[in-house]
Amino acid sequence: MVHASESGQGHLVLRKARFSDAEELHRLEPVVFVSYYAAHRFTSKQFRRYINRNTTIAYVISKNGRLVGYALGIALQGARLGAGRLLSIGVAPAFRRKGFADRLLQAFLSEARRRAIRRMYLEVAAKNRGAIQFFTSSGFKILRRLPALYSRSVGGLRMRLMIQR
Ligand SMILES: CC(C)(COP(=O)(O)OP(=O)(O)OC[C@H]1O[C@@H](n2cnc3c(N)ncnc32)[C@H](O)[C@@H]1OP(=O)(O)O)[C@@H](O)C(=O)NCCC(=O)NCCS
Repeated sequence: MVHASESGQGHLVLRKARFSDAEELHRLEPVVFVSYYAAHRFTSKQFRRYINRNTTIAYVISKNGRLVGYALGIALQGARLGAGRLLSIGVAPAFRRKGFADRLLQAFLSEARRRAIRRMYLEVAAKNRGAIQFFTSSGFKILRRLPALYSRSVGGLRMRLMIQR
C-alpha cells in the first residue's frame, strides 16, 4: 500500500517497511531516539529480523526519498492472539509536528484492524511528555506505571488502545 502526495514541500511516501529499509532505519535510530532511549535502539539486524516476520506490522514515511519516520510493532500469538504491541514509533526532529507520526500510526492501526487485533499495547518513558501526549491524543489510555523500565531512574508507562472494528 502506498500513499503518496506531492506538495510544495516535496514528495511524501507512506508505505510498508521493506527488508531493504533496515540499514536506513538503523541510521535513523540515533537521530530519533536520544538520551535514555539510546540503549534501546534497534540494530539493523533487529530491523531485518522484524521486517521478515509476517507477525510484524511496520510502516515508513519518506520525504524526497529519505526515510524520516517509522512505526513498528507485532501481532501477538498464542494465548495473546487478538492483541498487538507497538514497539517503536519515531520521526526525525526536523519533521515533527507535521502529522507524520499520526499518519504512521493510522496506517499501523488499520493494518492491525485488518489482522483482527483488538487491543494495542505500548510502553513509553514516563518522562516522555510529548510522546505521551501524542499517544493520549490518539486514544491510548494509561494502564499502569512500570518502574525503572528504561534505566534505574527512568520508569515507563504501559498504555493501551482498544481498536474498534
Ligand atoms: C512522539 C513523536 C513520534 C511524535 O511525532 P510527530 O510526527 O511530531 O507527531 P504528529 O505531528 O503526528 O503529532 C500529532 C499530535 O500529537 C500530539 N503531539 C505530538 N508531539 C507532541 C509533543 N512533543 N508535545 C505535545 N503534543 C504532541 C499533538 O496533539 C499533535 O497534534 P498537533 O501538532 O496538531 O498539536 C515524535 O516526537 C518522536 O519521534 N519522538 C521521539 C521518539 C519517541 O519518543 N517515540 C515514542 C516512544 S516509542
